[in-house]
Amino acid sequence: MSFELYSAPLLVFLLIRYLRRTLRADHLLPQWDHLFKKSLYIVVLLFILELIFPIKFITAWVWSAALLFMIWLTFTRQEFQLTRTVMVAVLPLILISFFEDFVKIFGEKFQDRVSNYSSSYLYPFAVIWLIAMLIVSHKQKKALDKERKRRAEEAERSRMMAQKKAELEQMVEERTAELTQQKKELQQTIDELHTTQTQLIQSEKMASLGELTAGIAHEIQNPLNFVNNFSEVSVELIDEMQKDLQNGQAEDAQSVAEDIRQNLIKISHHGKRADAIVKGMLQHSRSHSGQKEPTDINALADEYLRLSYHGLRAKDKSFNASMVTDFDHELGKVNVIPQDMGRVILNLFTNAFYSVKMKQNQQKEGYSPLVSVSTKRVNVPSKTGLNGTKHLVEIRVKDNGVGIPKKVLDKIYQPFFTTKPTGEGTGLGLSLSYEIIKAHQGELKVNTKEGEFAEFIILLPA
Ligand SMILES: Nc1ncnc2c1ncn2[C@@H]1O[C@H](COP(=O)(O)OP(=O)(O)O)[C@@H](O)[C@H]1O
Ligand SMILES: [Mg+2]
Repeated sequence: MSFELYSAPLLVFLLIRYLRRTLRADHLLPQWDHLFKKSLYIVVLLFILELIFPIKFITAWVWSAALLFMIWLTFTRQEFQLTRTVMVAVLPLILISFFEDFVKIFGEKFQDRVSNYSSSYLYPFAVIWLIAMLIVSHKQKKALDKERKRRAEEAERSRMMAQKKAELEQMVEERTAELTQQKKELQQTIDELHTTQTQLIQSEKMASLGELTAGIAHEIQNPLNFVNNFSEVSVELIDEMQKDLQNGQAEDAQSVAEDIRQNLIKISHHGKRADAIVKGMLQHSRSHSGQKEPTDINALADEYLRLSYHGLRAKDKSFNASMVTDFDHELGKVNVIPQDMGRVILNLFTNAFYSVKMKQNQQKEGYSPLVSVSTKRVNVPSKTGLNGTKHLVEIRVKDNGVGIPKKVLDKIYQPFFTTKPTGEGTGLGLSLSYEIIKAHQGELKVNTKEGEFAEFIILLPA
């Protein structure tokens, strides 16, 4: 051993450590790692023994064998491939050392010569080679590290992307669930609204029915009084007639009989009136048949005007109003659904009476409430109508009540719009009326001046 810097045990030690580290044997090659660790201990032990005892001539072979074994491993084993460059770097050094040990066998003299030769040529070459190869290895390692880092980054990136994706998916799922829930709630609200609406429409119907019933009771009272009175009078007349007959006054009996006949005609007339009123009530309460039929609008309006007035008076005896009718007797019958049209007209009257009553409550002096209704035929020019004109029937319901303020005027047809206190108005009357008139291909309009009057005009195709 003539090259001072060269120490075979140290090289073996370093190379084993190098293999362990570079190959990350503790993780990747556990069996080898076990062997490496053991070998390190053995190397240290042998080295110490070598220092104490003169066994160098044996250990030298051991070191060489170990080195050659390692080289052999790196070139034959796939898993040792990474360390090949470094092994190539130390290869000349090992070979020279091996060669020197080998020549020792041939005696001192020969060895000296070889030693001289290797010190001046082989070792410098081996060292330069070692340095060059280490530089190459270093560069390779750097490139490898870079590549590893890039891969790791890429893996991290795709991991993050996967995570992001999962998060987004989760978010979408949550949002979808939320939306589904909201949709469910909205549907429920809509259902509830539907129910409330039907209930309210029902209560509007019931309210008008209540008004009607009160009016009807009043209306029936009148013919009933007639019937009762005329019947009582008739009973008296019959007594009189019997007396006349007993007394042989045939002529007197004849005239009394005539009176009785007149009475009976009146009784029958008023009976029929009551009958008609009851029929009207039945018609109103009956669910809609939805059939249009030729209807006497004047009679309908007249009837409902009185019914609604008396309906209101039944609730408030102190209330009084004048009613004026101006019917076109040439009107003839108009094709409408009578129950529906009755409902519209009734609602207009109820609103009108409510309004005049309100005004009366506000200013008693010098105010006389007035509700009027008029009908007439009108002809308007039209491109589609017969002979260039369209025939319409116009119904006007007017009151001199509080009128409608401008700011609520465009809301009065909206369902549930009301200015009346709770319990007194549902806000459905005009919206239902509007729908009904529209279904008749007609028109519902309003003229008003706040504080002075309100006039609703129905136009129907005749
Ligand atoms: N003749 C009228 N005079 C004054 N205001 C009226 C008249 N008719 C309707 N209105 C107004 O229109 C609103 C809606 O009427 P309507 O749809 O019949 O509902 P409701 O009578 O239940 O309030 C009333 O609350 C009232 O403010
Ligand atoms: Mg109303």
